[in-house]
Amino acid sequence: MKDASSRAIHLSDYQPPAYLVDQVDLTFDLRNKGTKVKARLELRRNGEHNDPLLLDGEQLNTLSVAIDGNKLAESDFIMTSTQLRIDNVPDVFILETEVEIAPESNTALEGLYRSNDLFCTQCEAEGFRRITWYPDRPDVMALFRTSIEAERDMFPVLLSNGNPVSEEQLDNGRHRITWEDPFPKPSYLFALVAGNLALLEDRFTTMSGREVTLRIYSEPENIDKCDYAMESLKKAMRWDEEVYGREYDLDIFMVVAVNDFNMGAMENKGLNIFNAKLLLARPDTATDMDYQGIEAVVAHEYFHNWTGNRITCRDWFQLSLKEGLTVFRDQEFSADMGSRDVKRIEDVRMLRSHQFAEDASPMAHPVRPDSYIEINNFYTLTVYEKGAEVVRMQALLLGDDYRRATDLYFERYDGQAVTTDDFVSCMESVSGRDLGQFRRWYSQAGTPQLHVSGEYDADKGKYSLKVRQELLTISGQKESLPMLIPLAVGLLDSEGNEMPLRLEGAEAEPHTTIMIEVTEAQQEFLFTGISHEPVPSLLRGFSAPVKLHFDYSQEQLLFLMAHDSDGFVRWDAAQTLHQQLLLEKISNPDATLPTAYIDAIRKVLLECDDLALATELLALPSESYLGDQMEIVDVDAIHAARESVRFEIAEALDEELAGKCSELASDDAYEPVHEQIAARSLKNHALSLLAMTGTDEVRELVESQYMAQQNMTDVMAALSITVQRGWQPLSRRLLEDFERCWSDMPLVMDKWFGVQASVPATATVEAVTALMSHPAFTLTNPNRVRALVGSFVMNNPVAFHREDGAGYRLLADLVIELNDKNPQVAARLVRHMSRWRRYDEIRSALMKEQLEHIAAIPAISRDVSEIVNRSLA
Ligand code: TRP
Ligand code: ZN
Repeated sequence: MKDASSRAIHLSDYQPPAYLVDQVDLTFDLRNKGTKVKARLELRRNGEHNDPLLLDGEQLNTLSVAIDGNKLAESDFIMTSTQLRIDNVPDVFILETEVEIAPESNTALEGLYRSNDLFCTQCEAEGFRRITWYPDRPDVMALFRTSIEAERDMFPVLLSNGNPVSEEQLDNGRHRITWEDPFPKPSYLFALVAGNLALLEDRFTTMSGREVTLRIYSEPENIDKCDYAMESLKKAMRWDEEVYGREYDLDIFMVVAVNDFNMGAMENKGLNIFNAKLLLARPDTATDMDYQGIEAVVAHEYFHNWTGNRITCRDWFQLSLKEGLTVFRDQEFSADMGSRDVKRIEDVRMLRSHQFAEDASPMAHPVRPDSYIEINNFYTLTVYEKGAEVVRMQALLLGDDYRRATDLYFERYDGQAVTTDDFVSCMESVSGRDLGQFRRWYSQAGTPQLHVSGEYDADKGKYSLKVRQELLTISGQKESLPMLIPLAVGLLDSEGNEMPLRLEGAEAEPHTTIMIEVTEAQQEFLFTGISHEPVPSLLRGFSAPVKLHFDYSQEQLLFLMAHDSDGFVRWDAAQTLHQQLLLEKISNPDATLPTAYIDAIRKVLLECDDLALATELLALPSESYLGDQMEIVDVDAIHAARESVRFEIAEALDEELAGKCSELASDDAYEPVHEQIAARSLKNHALSLLAMTGTDEVRELVESQYMAQQNMTDVMAALSITVQRGWQPLSRRLLEDFERCWSDMPLVMDKWFGVQASVPATATVEAVTALMSHPAFTLTNPNRVRALVGSFVMNNPVAFHREDGAGYRLLADLVIELNDKNPQVAARLVRHMSRWRRYDEIRSALMKEQLEHIAAIPAISRDVSEIVNRSLA
């Protein structure tokens, strides 16, 4: 149990470490009970001072402490539940400790823990202190040597970072393997895995001709699902060489899949550990989305080898230094592997619907936070996704210089623990620009708003864009200052062609897209030589993470949606249009859709030959995103309006939709390739719209798609349509069939739980409660908790926000149960009540009541209490 009384840590209090560690030798004696860890640290005073040695530790049963070979008496040190303090240590010395730990009862999944028959670790951010006494902070970088001893039959595979250097058979059926990592690293990148694992092996030749052995480990029954991860890894390795000039630096790269894991995956040096969900895939078990997630996350963790491991963070306030940059890198990788426009649209949708919401919530914080109570709570969409946008803007501003700037970054800071400021300074050195104002993106929370208006002067042939920026102060933050906002702009003529653009006074050759830099609170930009009134295409490629307001007419939106050369702007115009009509429907349920809108949808469906883009253009904004656009979120009205718009579209276009479904159906063998994924996504989107009509034909079509069992994408699409629409008895029959097929594959069963939790009906609260008593439900597996309760809370506003508060009670009860079992997962779930003030009086009072109820529990974890208290403040 963590100490909830702990106070906030502030960036402004940063002090360099008092002692550095040059070398660490760890010896693990792994046991089903009574695991022991010996640590030998070579320590050295850092600078001139007489400060005591302070080491971090949690839940350690300390057996001995020795300095330079002399065992210390209890009076020689002060030990609390989280700290070991030794005064008057020499300048250079050896500290040896031995502790006993209990991985078998570690349900928090931080430090060393058991996942089924596997031992594994998760040390980021502060899990290493649950393994041994250590200065557990990222700016202490040491060389690690790790010996692991365990029973040979149960744990034939013993892994740690770096290269294996020795293997010995011991008495009593035990063995010992020793690993050495030649690169200094912070403790959060330490990893250990022990178990009976199957292996998929491959090779990669680096750009300088070095041979690297690639190993993916999983439970034996899952090794047939590792091929796609291996292909993704090789693509990522090649891409990082080609695009960033980064080569892999060890002889072995290992990846391990584990079932119980708090997050997606972890970039431990040379030994990445993955949530099985983000590694294992076979056509009959994983959907297209799962495949895309695997490709992205395998790349993400691999890319951390340079952006995170070789160059790491000075302190946890700098988390976005590695995460923002690495997300930007994985986004660009995925864009290069598939469709650039569609990848951008997916990322923007996620940013707008979740990060913008976070940035407008009591949990809002800058990309580089100023303070935290529990660092685990700051692995957020803001640090990751907005952080990636902030790197993307620098890449946009620098153009070709961006690569030179990252080269300089790797050269200047290799082997060091640095700050986001250090990263920006490389951008400045190479470009010669002062990015002082740009740095506010790291320090100011909140989403800037851009209000843009256009005016055409026919006599002078000039078009003027007036831009006003506004960043509302979020309570607790100093007054917000204007940001440097890159705004990519194009102008379309009446035919939809790009006009060549020149800014007044600028010398440059005309371009069809110009990046204007908004730096003032209010600014005007003049385009010259404009022969007739244009339609502006704004924020192309989503050039900055802002909310843009321009008073487009419905005609202009339809025009942009049909003609713009920028995929993002086409999609954005479609979204604005959908949103306008949906909001209209909310205030006037009898309003019917304009014919021009239906025609535009027909046109996209039938004529857009980029099928993946077509799906994006057709997709209506989510219910939660629509809620964000309202003064007070009206959950039921939003759902009703969205359903009725979908119904109207389906009625008007039923033949076209049915035609698309049959045209795009295919017997080709499943491959997770772009063309196939695009076709399936449009087909299944059309099918789900068509399902709104509920005719016998469409029910048969959906059932036959399920029965065909061609691949999990199509099976899940059919199952979720049936279950969501509540088609009985078909729904019950398919759910039973699915459960029978997949009861022994947890990752697939997660889909079964998730689909039932997403049924948009008030009775789903009781259904979820019942499923929590299903024999396959367990609180110890985070994937399972997220599949059932996470889906309920995130994808099901109608049920979660049920007016009697039953959804809130369900969540609160679960959070309380998880509070001491797995505080990280509990804290992530409880966030979904943080925006309680956005709802009507009844609902907000009910949510507040549950938050207060949680706040009052004894022994509340630091993780949960920080979120709950910030939400209530
Ligand atoms: N560094 C990991 C990544 O983004 C994520 C991570 C942070 C994590 N803390 C974790 C993963 C705890 C699992 C558990 O790549
Ligand atoms: Zn990461």
